[in-house]
This record gives sequence, C-alpha cells and structure tokens, in this order.
Amino acid sequence: MTRKGGTDSASHPGRTAPSVNGMTLDLTEPLPSFTLNNGVRMPALGLGVFQTPPEETVAAVSEALRIGYRHVDTAASYGNEREVGQALRESGLDRSEVFLETKLWISDYGYDEALHAFEKSAGKLGVDQIDLLLLHQPLTSDFERTIGAYQALETLLAEGKVRAIGVSNVMPDVLVRLLDETTVVPAVNQIEVHPYFSQPDVQEADAEHGILTQAWSPIGGITHYRGDIERSTLTDPVIGQIAAAHERTPAQVMLRWHLQRGRSVIPKSVRPERIAENADVFGFTLSDEELARIDALDTGVRGGPDPDTITLETFGREIPEA
Ligand SMILES: NC(=O)c1ccc[n+]([C@@H]2O[C@H](COP(=O)([O-])OP(=O)(O)OC[C@H]3O[C@@H](n4cnc5c(N)ncnc54)[C@H](OP(=O)(O)O)[C@@H]3O)[C@@H](O)[C@H]2O)c1
Repeated sequence: MTRKGGTDSASHPGRTAPSVNGMTLDLTEPLPSFTLNNGVRMPALGLGVFQTPPEETVAAVSEALRIGYRHVDTAASYGNEREVGQALRESGLDRSEVFLETKLWISDYGYDEALHAFEKSAGKLGVDQIDLLLLHQPLTSDFERTIGAYQALETLLAEGKVRAIGVSNVMPDVLVRLLDETTVVPAVNQIEVHPYFSQPDVQEADAEHGILTQAWSPIGGITHYRGDIERSTLTDPVIGQIAAAHERTPAQVMLRWHLQRGRSVIPKSVRPERIAENADVFGFTLSDEELARIDALDTGVRGGPDPDTITLETFGREIPEA
C-alpha cells in the first residue's frame, strides 16, 4: 500500500463532516454512508470502473471487495457490467452487502426502451435488483426521451426493481425541467467534481432539492486522461503541501476533501495498491483552511464534455443485449 503515515489524531476535531451541501456524513463510522433522500443508505466511497477493461474488471472489483469496499459504480456504456456481477458473485458476500450502482445510456432512452435497458443491465450484473440506477446523461436535444427514460426509472422504483434512482451530468437548468415533468426527486446527481472543476452552482442546486452530489473523476482522472490538459491534480503544489502536512498522498487528500464537503466519491483504479490507498481516507481530517485552499483551485473549466453536446449523433452507440 502506498499511503503514507498513520492516524492523524492531532487534527481529528471534525467528527462529522461539515455539511456545505446539506448532506451529513458521520466520518467516525468504519464505512461511512449517506442516507439518500428516500432513506436508502449508500456507502460514501465506492470503486469506479470507467475505462476498466472487461478483462481487468473482475480482478479490480474482487480486490476492492476483499479489502472492504461495499459500493461499485459501473454503467451500461462501460461494457463491464457482466464482470462486475461476476466479481460480486465470486466474493462470497451476500448481495445485500454490496451497493451496486449503474447507469442507462442515451441510446436506451424513452420509456419502453429504458425499462428494457434495466433488464439488460440487471441480466449482465446477474441481479434482480439494482441499488441505484442513474440516467447517464440528459439528452437535451431530445428531452422527451430523457423524461420517458426517467419515468421508467420511477416505475422500476415503484416495482422495487431498483432501490433508488438518480441522474448524472444534470446542470441546474436541466434539473428544473426534469423536476417539472417528473414525480420522484433524484437521489443522486453524479457530476464531474475534482479540485480543478468543482461546479459549486450544480452542487447548490442539488442541495436545494435534497439531491446528493456524487463526484466523478474525484481525483481529477479526466484531466489525467486528456493529453491537452497540462496540469494534474496529482502534482498540484497546493494539494502536495497539504498531503505532506498530513503524511498522506495527493489522491487521499482529494478524496478526503470530497467527503468532508459532503460528496460521495467513486475513484477508479485497477491497481491493488491504489485501490487500497483510495479507501484509506478515514484516519485524518483536513482543516477548514485546507478545505478552502482546495476549493480555491477551481478553474471553472471542465475536463469532460459539456453535457449539452451529448447527442445520439455524437455518442449514441448501441448497448448490446447480452
Ligand atoms: N457519469 C459520468 O459521466 C462519469 C464520467 C467519468 C467517470 N465516471 C465514474 O467516476 C469514476 C471515477 O472517475 P475517473 O475514472 O474518470 O477518474 P478518477 O477516479 O478521478 O481517476 C482515475 C485515474 O487515476 C488513476 N489513479 C487512481 N488512483 C490513483 C492514485 N491513488 N494515485 C495516482 N493515480 C491514481 C487511475 O489509474 P489506474 O487505474 O492505473 O490506477 C486512473 O487513471 C469512473 O470510474 C466512473 O465510475 C462517471
């Protein structure tokens, strides 16, 4: 394991995370969980598997479950739901012990299509019930299909086939339109949040409606993948100074920043040492000043695509049946 240092008891006054977005998290629990707006409990930290190749997914998820992760975030479009399900079955853990989160892709939007997409995802995962099902992107170019898909999620929730429903990459203006035309307030909005792009306006809109913000690319992964972005959160001097002060790694500092700010995190890694490092974030506390210094790194420039540019023409690939 590459994490540095031990329990940082000297700076342990914040037993409960400051709730800047309306969500509280008891960070003294061994596996802190958020209570979603419908009462369902979700472990605050999970393993993300975007860009984890199918052939590496069983090993990564198995290792995460072995060392104590109890939450995995996948998506129909990641092409690895089957392998996530295989790792879950091989873990020997009871189904109820692991929180499974997945997302429907835009090519499956529309009411009937989304109901069928649930069957595809559940079949690949090998489960009867999904803990949290999200719409991966709003399709603003065809909002009726987005609404139809969300209404299908509402049906699945009412039938008990999913325990909670939510959205991803939904900006405040789109959230208002969605809330106007649907009944169930999303439990989660999964959006790009890392020190270089933290979308405070989106977090505020989520909080106003009791929606938990979940950070994708929580350690800035989207900026590591893109060759045209020169700065890396992992080598940022401010984050480096804070990490050194706590004898932790930059990734651990970023993940702790999210948790103390009341956000769920789903860091991705295929490397056992990093999977362990990323989960070892409960033995130290960042000061208010350190949290504010990280907040101040926001550039307002997103690493991922603008959600408005996601259309069936640009990103509408088919999700296979099996
Ligand atoms: N809803 C959406 O539109 C959306 C978009 C993107 C991502 N997501 C979700 O969010 C999850 C996380 O986002 P992400 O994968 O983009 O980015 P991330 O978790 O911020 O970063 C992942 C990258 O950082 C590396 N890494 C992981 N731990 C590290 C550590 N401790 N030190 C140094 N490098 C480390 C990984 O490489 P190795 O694997 O080689 O360790 C990978 O290249 C995804 O897996 C997915 O579940 C959702």
